[in-house]
Amino acid sequence: MDDVRVGLAGLGHRGLHWLRRLRQMEGYRVVAVCDPIAALRERGLAALDRRDGVAAYARYEDLLVDPKVDAIALCVRSLSQGAMAAQALEAGKHVNAEVPAAHTLEDCWRIVVAAERTGRVYQLAEQARYWGFVDAWRDLVAEGRLGRVTFCEGQYIGYYGTRQFFQDPETGHFYDVEELPAHPEARPTCLHVMPPIHYLPHELSPMLKVLDDRVVEVTAMSTGSPSYSHPEIGQPDIQVALMKTEKDVLLRMATGFTQPVSHARGHHWYQVMGTRGSVEWKRSGRGFPLMWTADSQMHDVAEMDWRYERTDAPQEARGSGHGDADHYVHTAFRDAVLGIKPLAFDVYRAMETAAPAILAADSIAQGTRLMRVPDFRPGVARLAGEMPR
Ligand SMILES: NC(=O)c1ccc[n+]([C@@H]2O[C@H](COP(=O)([O-])OP(=O)(O)OC[C@H]3O[C@@H](n4cnc5c(N)ncnc54)[C@H](O)[C@@H]3O)[C@@H](O)[C@H]2O)c1
Repeated sequence: MDDVRVGLAGLGHRGLHWLRRLRQMEGYRVVAVCDPIAALRERGLAALDRRDGVAAYARYEDLLVDPKVDAIALCVRSLSQGAMAAQALEAGKHVNAEVPAAHTLEDCWRIVVAAERTGRVYQLAEQARYWGFVDAWRDLVAEGRLGRVTFCEGQYIGYYGTRQFFQDPETGHFYDVEELPAHPEARPTCLHVMPPIHYLPHELSPMLKVLDDRVVEVTAMSTGSPSYSHPEIGQPDIQVALMKTEKDVLLRMATGFTQPVSHARGHHWYQVMGTRGSVEWKRSGRGFPLMWTADSQMHDVAEMDWRYERTDAPQEARGSGHGDADHYVHTAFRDAVLGIKPLAFDVYRAMETAAPAILAADSIAQGTRLMRVPDFRPGVARLAGEMPR
């Protein structure tokens, strides 16, 4: 196989961004697109250099049986996105899926088992794990510079206005809360019922990479629904999960997407503390990441010039999105499908970013119950390719 022939499903904001990236990258050819909204299919085709011979499907099932498609680029926003990834693997396609991986534990298992049975590549296209500071922190932890890590925090408290919550299902156009009276055709999107804590992969994926660890227990709390900030929106404003890892690190992770926050400050924040030191992401647009170690004659924390952007980024990564990180998910997937290099962020690590988030929402639904996170790796209790008992 010279090129990975891609069928891209979900032609919204992210799908369009992916189309533009894939058409610039070597080793990819977009051969089909899919979205139930006709106007978005047309917009997707228009974003390609050459649209002749590119199939456009309204139904996902039709995309899955197209023999020209080797791999599905899954950019849908749907509570079924995990089931859709599993369906594609079961149809013999490789899958590069947008975050989050899934919204139910059953879908996580279905993805794992389908990937094991078919040997197809499944990648969760989580890109924060490629940020420059994430590798710097991982190395510090691996070298023992922070001692034994005991505490780690991450939060994604982001605000993109209210548009993503209301969409015209005919045209695909999104509307803000203020525009709703003039647009009765706008319908609530699935985000109204998606627990915001499901959107933890951009915290769990990079921090579990730093810790080289997995979550084993989780519990969580939520503010009330609907949002206090925008009562038209069903999502609660803040959900917080408390977790414990296999290596006995406590994690506190939070999400919220409905209340205004400073854009200069950025939407993500992280901290790692150990018995001999700590590292912390910057708190404001003017601030710096911070570091302190007990063994280096430091009276106060030091400001560090760690960034999202990597110092070793190739030219083609620059400007790819999210501090250049969007580039890496496409090179890693392509190289895995073409047999050049297996994925470091494999299907098991991917599910380790999804399952704690799903169980956090289940914990909230069950009055902050403590939930155990399953181990997705095969072993004596479950052979590869078998569903868990
Ligand atoms: N990695 C990141 O940084 C990042 C950023 C934003 C969004 N996302 C993720 O990307 C995905 C898409 O986000 P978006 O902002 O583009 O959403 P969007 O709502 O703009 O687009 C999603 C599209 O999926 C289509 N779709 C839904 N069900 C479908 C189906 N069964 N078959 C084919 N198409 C279907 C919808 O019609 C819609 O056009 C989401 O999963 C989101 O969580 C990731």
